[in-house]
Amino acid sequence: MKKHLLKMADLTRDDIIELLNLADQLKYELKHGISHRHLEGKTLGMIFQKSSTRTRVSFETGMYQLGGNALFLSSKDLQIGRGEPVEDTARVLSRYLDGIMIRTFEQKEVEDLAEYGSIPIINGLTDYCHPCQVLADLMTIREYKGQFDGLKMTYIGDGNNMANSLIVGGLTVGMKVSVACPEGYHPDRSVLDFAKGFEGMFELTDSPVGAAKDADVIFTDVWASMGQEGEAQIRKKAFAGYQVNDEVMSAARQDAIVQHCLPAHREEEITAKVFEAHADEIFDEAENRLHAQKAVMVRLLK
Ligand code: CP
Ligand code: NVA
Repeated sequence: MKKHLLKMADLTRDDIIELLNLADQLKYELKHGISHRHLEGKTLGMIFQKSSTRTRVSFETGMYQLGGNALFLSSKDLQIGRGEPVEDTARVLSRYLDGIMIRTFEQKEVEDLAEYGSIPIINGLTDYCHPCQVLADLMTIREYKGQFDGLKMTYIGDGNNMANSLIVGGLTVGMKVSVACPEGYHPDRSVLDFAKGFEGMFELTDSPVGAAKDADVIFTDVWASMGQEGEAQIRKKAFAGYQVNDEVMSAARQDAIVQHCLPAHREEEITAKVFEAHADEIFDEAENRLHAQKAVMVRLLK
């Protein structure tokens, strides 16, 4: 495995399987009260330039369970928020910390931290991708379905950070991936280029029901991501019809599961009915953030 987790494409299939196996083991150990203090004496810095419930709490709790310490660093309070260069921030923090998790807007800021610092960097969400979330998603799919080969994953909605990471992660582990997005809201060009390497395994369409046909797993995400609040009204129009609802679910396999990274907007990207019918799967997915990220921290910081 590489030194950093900057994006999903940093991970090979073997890396992902190894991380998921470790995550399963850490989950088992936690549930059975078996000590797993792999990171005693280590400190993770967590830089947040955007809001968070799951990412903050799961990283902080996970680090505690591993015997280490986590520092919440709001970029509003750091000098970086007043213009101190990332190059300097990276070199300073590398002298104190054992790793950094960062949530920010630009992917380049995460890449720069990795380039100028000397400690492992973990991407906790950028506008481009959300690899920690997708590791938890893959862990959940494997829990419900037992394997990845032969499964079809469908994503309906905005071609955003979640779509980008799900396409790369899903294809890497061997799933078919079908994505329905409206014109003008397609996944990133780099991700569509990546998908070209998976002949017959990837489909991009404008039909949600078409994309959902025979799906084993259905994903969606908000129509307006963090930082896009000003576009919410335009986006509501653009995404009308790109909703996970009964019609979409009846195109999927009868035993299909539904995943949502959360937070969810009921009656926008998903109906309240479908959300509640699949709430166990969605909250297992949220729980698995904890276990999957603990595996990432053990692999990168130990
Ligand atoms: N899914 C996710 O990353 O949630 P938060 O924004 O609450 O961290
Ligand atoms: N696409 C969403 C994901 C939140 C976890 C956003 O970036 O706001």
